[in-house]
Amino acid sequence: MGLLDGKVVMVTGAGRGLGRSEALALGKEGAKVVVNDLGGSLHGSGSEAMVADEVVQEIKDAGGTAAANYSDIGTLDGADSLIWTALSKFGQVDGLVNNAGIIRDKTLLNMTEDDWDLVQKVHAKGTFLCSRAAARAMRTKDGGSIINTTSMSGLAGNFGQINYGLAKAGIYGFTKIAAMELGRYGIRVNAVCPNAYTRMTADLPGMKDVPEEMISPDAMAPLVVYLISDLSKEINGRVIGCQGGVRGTKVVEMKMTAAPGYAKKDGLATTEEIAENIDKILFDQPDLNMGALMMTD
Ligand code: NAI
Repeated sequence: MGLLDGKVVMVTGAGRGLGRSEALALGKEGAKVVVNDLGGSLHGSGSEAMVADEVVQEIKDAGGTAAANYSDIGTLDGADSLIWTALSKFGQVDGLVNNAGIIRDKTLLNMTEDDWDLVQKVHAKGTFLCSRAAARAMRTKDGGSIINTTSMSGLAGNFGQINYGLAKAGIYGFTKIAAMELGRYGIRVNAVCPNAYTRMTADLPGMKDVPEEMISPDAMAPLVVYLISDLSKEINGRVIGCQGGVRGTKVVEMKMTAAPGYAKKDGLATTEEIAENIDKILFDQPDLNMGALMMTD
């Protein structure tokens, strides 16, 4: 008996990296998995069907059930084709993991319109289109679970990723709102925030010093299985970070929060009062950073 027996789950960008690990784990727990991947480059060019096919074969070789979908999830036709693959092959939709992603890193001053638009298209529009299509299918039955993928780049910022950071911060807000709107249909919407060694991160500054096995893409898979499963029936609108490897794993909720602040009981605060109370208005702690995902002794 698997934890996900009888469920049909779609994973976008499941041909490589985090999505591949998540799809394999979902398949091992008995889910019928739709493995979506366009098979493009890290920067969003090209396509190759083999990338999704190989993961489908891996799931089958491990005794699971899977079907491939090769569509670009940043397009309306692509999102519809993803859901259609699930419905036509397996008859229903219970889960969606919005994971597909690309990067086109540049600073604000050097960012081109194409670099900006393509990153929004894959991350923000792809999450919207796939979630909407999946939620429409889930609403007609007893609900389901959607998992989005955000990033510390969006929650805390990362130099040179202004297009990606905007999309990932947007996915945080999208998750909160979709959870409010879809909860009434029994559809839960949560997000994960990974940090893992994949082709996307391999060349980032700082990554070269971290042993690959300490930040494995496999660390996220058990959290994704949990959020798709009925074990998390009461969990909705949460953003959960996860990083792990041979030296252990950290799993932690991430949320926007407020400082104690300055409150004036009568009337409008003046500029001088704001200046006088700036220590209460601002946090005295540093902003959220990668440290939140690090193991502490
Ligand atoms: P990856 O590059 O290894 O895998 C991403 C997959 O998405 C690729 O196989 C690619 O072909 C596919 N893809 C890209 N655009 C697509 C499209 N339009 N339609 C269908 N498939 C498409 O990257 P990784 O690291 O596994 O990233 C997965 C997700 O996790 C992304 O959303 C990324 O932004 C996010 N993330 C990753 C972090 C990390 O540490 N690796 C940290 C924070 C977030």
